Amino acid sequence: MPADDAAASAAVRHRTQVGIVGAGPAGLFLSHLLARAGIDSIVLEDRSRDYVESRIRAGVLEQGSVDLLNAAGLGARMGREGLAHAGIEIRFEGRGHRIDFLALTGKAITVYGQHELVKDLIAARLAEGRPLHFDVSDVAVAGFDGDSPSIRYREDGETHEIACDFIAGCDGFHGICRPSVPAGVLALYERSYPFAWMGILAEAPPASKELIYAHHERGFALLSMRSPTLSRLYVQCGPEDDVAAWPDERIWDELQRRTATSDGAFRVPQGAVLQKGVTPMRSFVAEPMQCGRLFLAGDAAHIVPPTGAKGMNLAMADVHYLTQALVARYRSGSMDLLDGYSARCLRRVWKAQRFSWWMTTMLHRHPEDSPFDRRRQLAELDYLTGSEAAMRVLAENYVGLPLE
Ligand code: FAD
Ligand code: DHB
Repeated sequence: MPADDAAASAAVRHRTQVGIVGAGPAGLFLSHLLARAGIDSIVLEDRSRDYVESRIRAGVLEQGSVDLLNAAGLGARMGREGLAHAGIEIRFEGRGHRIDFLALTGKAITVYGQHELVKDLIAARLAEGRPLHFDVSDVAVAGFDGDSPSIRYREDGETHEIACDFIAGCDGFHGICRPSVPAGVLALYERSYPFAWMGILAEAPPASKELIYAHHERGFALLSMRSPTLSRLYVQCGPEDDVAAWPDERIWDELQRRTATSDGAFRVPQGAVLQKGVTPMRSFVAEPMQCGRLFLAGDAAHIVPPTGAKGMNLAMADVHYLTQALVARYRSGSMDLLDGYSARCLRRVWKAQRFSWWMTTMLHRHPEDSPFDRRRQLAELDYLTGSEAAMRVLAENYVGLPLE
C-alpha cells in the first residue's frame, strides 16, 4: 500500500456538508447561520477556547452586523451589554467635531468587544451540541479543485479526516487555506503602512461618551471603550515597535498630549493596564475569494487597517453572503450564488478598503510627509468637519454600506 493510502486509512473518518477552518468571528458565525438553515458543519480551531475567548481585538459593530446577529438569535447579551453610539468625534488642532451618524444616516453603531461576540458564538454552538474542535493541529485542506474536498487534522494524538462538500477558509490572515490555493490562481493586492497602533485595555472609565479619533503632530490617537469602566485606547507607534518600548507612563503621556483640547481642560482617565499589544496596519485583498470548492471569508481573504473599524464587520458580511449561496445550492441545486460569491463580497470589500485607507491616511502622521502634506491633511479635516455632505460620506461608510 502506498504511504499516503496507509496514512489515510489510519485516519478517523468524519463526514459533513461544510468543513470550516477557523473559529474567529467568520467561522463561528458561518457555522451558526448554516445550522439555522439546516446545513451541517464541523469547525476546526488550532488555538484553545480560552485563547480565542480572551483575544482582545476589534470593538465596533456596524448597524448591519447588529441586525444580522439579532436576526440569527444571537443579540441578547449584545443588546444588554453593547453600547449604542449615535456618532463619533474627530479631534484636531485642539478642537473636537462631532459626526452625528443618526442625524446623517438614520443609523448607529454598537461598541461590543470581538471577544465577547466570540464567547456568545461559542456558547451558542456548544449549547446546540454541534461540532467545534479546539486545539487541533496540522490542519490541511485538499481535493477542493474536484468534487470531493477533505480536511485532515490531528487531535489528541490521532489523525482525522473530514470528507465534505465545501470548505470554508475562515482561518484569518496567517491561516493555511489561502496558501493552499495553487500558485497563479489568486491575484494579491497589498499595501503596508509605515506605522502601527499600540493598544491598551485599561480599568478606567471612558474619557467621553463616544469614540474620539484624534489627529496630532505627534501622531494619531483613538479613545474607545468596552464598558462604563473599561477603556480601549490606541496611539500611533512605529511599525517595528514592541510593547517593551512603550511602558504604561509613555502611553498615558502620549494619549493625553495627542487628545489635549486648546482650553487644556480635557483629561484621559487613567487606570490599571490589563492588556497591551500592537495592532499591525495592512491593506490586503486576495482575488477571487474562491478556488473550486474552497471559499475564503474574512481576514483569510482581506485585511484592512483598523482606522475605519471594518475588519470584523467585513468578516460577518462575507459569511452572510456565503450562507445565502450555500442555502441556494442545498435547496435548489443552483450554483449561481456560489459562483457569484467572490464578486459580490469584493464589491463591498473594496469600498471598505477605500474607506479604511482614507481614514488612515487622513488621520495618521506619515514619516515621509512634507509640510505641504501636513497642511493638506489639516485642510481635509477642516473641510470634512465643516461640510454636511462630507460628514455624511464618512457617516454612511462608518455605519456600514448596505448588505443585500
Ligand atoms: P480571525 O479572527 O483571525 O479568526 C481566524 C481563526 O482561525 C483564529 O481563531 C485562528 O486561531 C484560527 N486559525 C488560524 N490558522 C488555523 C489553522 N491552520 N487551523 C485552524 N484554525 C486556524 N479590527 C478592527 O476593526 N479594529 C481593531 O482594533 C482591530 N484590532 C486587531 C488587532 C489584531 C492584533 C488583529 C490581528 C486584528 C485586529 N482587527 C481589528 C481585525 C479584526 O479583529 C479581524 O478583521 C477579525 O478578527 C476577522 O475575523 P476572522 O474570523 O476572519 O479572522
Ligand atoms: C476600536 C477599534 C478600531 O479599529 C476603531 O476604529 C474603533 C474602535 C476598538 O477597539 O474599540
